Amino acid sequence: MYTYDELKAFTDHCSRCALSATRNRPVMGRGNLKSPVMFVAEAPGRNEDRDGIPFTGPSGRVFDQLLESAGVKREDIYLTNLVKCHPPGNRDPLPEEQEACILYLKHETILLRPRIIVCLGRIAAQRIISPGYRITREHGTFLYRKNTWLTAVYHPSAILRDPGKMEEAREDFRRIFEKSRETGAT
Ligand code: URA
Repeated sequence: MYTYDELKAFTDHCSRCALSATRNRPVMGRGNLKSPVMFVAEAPGRNEDRDGIPFTGPSGRVFDQLLESAGVKREDIYLTNLVKCHPPGNRDPLPEEQEACILYLKHETILLRPRIIVCLGRIAAQRIISPGYRITREHGTFLYRKNTWLTAVYHPSAILRDPGKMEEAREDFRRIFEKSRETGAT
């Protein structure tokens, strides 16, 4: 069992997949390590690769708006990515990259023991909830597995492409934090 700092040091020097050759900075998760709610996005974008911090670009601004609409701040939650390094050209992370990186997410989950894991977008939902996950149909629904509630919401970049999704996402965020209060988690 590793400490959080050890885990971060591993990711900082990781070369488990080919992304290590093209990334600028690996992006470990951030936020409140005691948060009952853990958000898992897909992989760092170009801004995050430069800054080494998740969601510092335009998607991050949408994410912050959604949190704010639920009365929550970024420092209240924990935010991480399925894959910790930026895939060139912003492509989806490949299955072998996800496979190489998943151990970091597993360790983050063991250390944080969140009550609710929220997948941001299809890629994270298909890896964490089920391979056939349909984000358009299933977002906002909850599944209980191994003492943890799992759910998924639209990825903020999908909302940037289609602002019509914002209202549904706000409602999903509201229900996530309502659930977190109901389960005595916050
Ligand atoms: N998109 C993601 O999925 N994660 C980030 O950290 C930034 C953009």
